[in-house]
Amino acid sequence: MTFSLYGPFVLGHLHCNLQNDISPPVDDDVCFALHRKYQLRRSVLAQSLDPMEVCGVDSEGKEFNSAQEMWREEIGEEGDETKKTQWYRDGVSYWEGVEASVDGVLGGYGHVNDADIIGSEVFLKTLLQERLVNGETNQHLVALDCGSGVGRITKNLLIRYLNEVDLVEPVAQFLDAARENLASTGSETHKAANFFCVPLQEFTPADQRYDVIWVQWCIGHLTDDDFVSFFNRAKGCLKPGGFFVVKENLAKQGFVLDKEDRSITRSDPYFKQLFRRCGLHLYQTKDQKGLPKELFAVKMYALTVDTPPKVHRTRSKTSSNRPQIIK
Ligand SMILES: C[S@@+](CC[C@H](N)C(=O)[O-])C[C@H]1O[C@@H](n2cnc3c(N)ncnc32)[C@H](O)[C@@H]1O
Repeated sequence: MTFSLYGPFVLGHLHCNLQNDISPPVDDDVCFALHRKYQLRRSVLAQSLDPMEVCGVDSEGKEFNSAQEMWREEIGEEGDETKKTQWYRDGVSYWEGVEASVDGVLGGYGHVNDADIIGSEVFLKTLLQERLVNGETNQHLVALDCGSGVGRITKNLLIRYLNEVDLVEPVAQFLDAARENLASTGSETHKAANFFCVPLQEFTPADQRYDVIWVQWCIGHLTDDDFVSFFNRAKGCLKPGGFFVVKENLAKQGFVLDKEDRSITRSDPYFKQLFRRCGLHLYQTKDQKGLPKELFAVKMYALTVDTPPKVHRTRSKTSSNRPQIIK
């Protein structure tokens, strides 16, 4: 995700604007022909029910007929660990070459930080209110910031609302910067507690420790199977009432693979299918507003382990007492 792509953002190096859409290139004949092809395919895809069956593209313009086809190519057949290890190694190497700053982790789009944090804050406040705080003031709340980078989200948001925040991030230089950035932030009752230098696919959070697990702009680095197994492990780490927030870029259809940083941008149906595989319930969603037009659309998902309460419609007395015809 050169903020080209994943890193959250633009597909600058692709002449054809494939970023968010499999949409029309601008000028030359080759691109026009490609566009026609995408249009045709899109009408077929619109009928497809399984998001995994939907085609995708990579940052070099290569098309895939399905996510399975792409994964087979990128990480090999099941059991072939060599290619998968390389996938993760390349992802981390990409970020190791990036400056350890807010602008660095946002791919040169440091100026979107404020809009991003404001959007997240509104979402988080509602969730905390509805699920955790309920008028109580002396709760001790703990969060986990996943793929935390330099601690941008912890510093600007999580530490203000939760009492302890743990950070998990595979790039040592980012985590060091986070430690430094957070040293002078917070207080005795609102602080960064633990810094884990581990990739998510290898991380198992502590049992029943967290009220909020925040996953933003990093889950595209995980393969589908590792995505599902991470959330399955993390489910047991939520306290009662706890929830996940996943805030990610969205492809309009299927997926977009970034060859440079080894990440994929998934579509909304693709995410929802993975959440179902994790056995998570979609509690609330919200679109992030106010980001530059050239970037991917960004969505926030709040996910819970418990089933959201159903709104039961009770029949009114008048209607239930009305004589019925017995057939
Ligand atoms: C676009 S940055 C976002 C950082 C942070 N979430 C933020 O929004 O400021 C992507 C982050 O994902 C991290 N990352 C890369 N591969 C990862 C993996 N396998 N597990 C967890 N994080 C990963 C990178 O090191 C980087 O810090």
